[in-house]
Amino acid sequence: AVRTPLIAGNWKMNLDHLQAVAFVQKLHWTLKDAKHEDGSVEVAVFPPFTDLRSVQTLLDADKIAFALGAQDLSTKDAGAYTGEISGAFLAKLDARYVIIGHSERREYHNESDDVIAAKVQAALRHGLTPVICVGETAEDLEKFGASAVPVGQLEKALEGVPADTEIVVAYEPVWAIGSGQAATPEQAQDVCAKLRGVIGAAMGEDAAARTRVLYGGSVKAANIASFMREPDVDGALVGGASLVVDEFASIIRFQK
Ligand code: G3H
Repeated sequence: AVRTPLIAGNWKMNLDHLQAVAFVQKLHWTLKDAKHEDGSVEVAVFPPFTDLRSVQTLLDADKIAFALGAQDLSTKDAGAYTGEISGAFLAKLDARYVIIGHSERREYHNESDDVIAAKVQAALRHGLTPVICVGETAEDLEKFGASAVPVGQLEKALEGVPADTEIVVAYEPVWAIGSGQAATPEQAQDVCAKLRGVIGAAMGEDAAARTRVLYGGSVKAANIASFMREPDVDGALVGGASLVVDEFASIIRFQK
């Protein structure tokens, strides 16, 4: 199956709305005539909620070919849930994607596999494509090896997800996030292939063949090509390096 690579920039809690607009403009000009323009690579940015409207307005006004995503959403659609953001709001802002189950949400906000599964369902109710993040901590790695925890997390997240649904999966070993210590391409390939197996078991072989499985964790311009050479790695979820225009542009321009 031919899967369009996805390079996704998760800004986390960085760039206010003015900085976000300046950043996207600069990235767009840096990438002029790059391959995302012809659709051979998809680029997505995941700003903080408060930036979504400004970034969406800019993408629309300047016909910039980046997809927009949010970093989280509520399990609920509307109501008395102070501080929460509904998938309905994100869909109205033309968000195409929403990150669900990032390890920082799991760790600092105690998000369980059940909450994450409910968020996946919430995203689907509003036509958003969930970017489902899974990954083992250093402690898990030592105790259970690399794949057991992410495989279990993904099995839970995919319960009740219909076969024809578009999802994205991101394998992010927690020990590799922000550490400068990326997984090796072989490690990433091994777990991404197993995650594709989970998609196949839950949603069928067609879904497994068409679904993009990303690697994330200390991805930078210098290592992106080595990951993209692996058959089951279909792109990257980039944190720190997505905040530096030239670095992120080089990642988007990767050559295998
Ligand atoms: O969502 C992105 C990941 O947490 C990776 O972050 O590229 O800064 O290691 P990083």
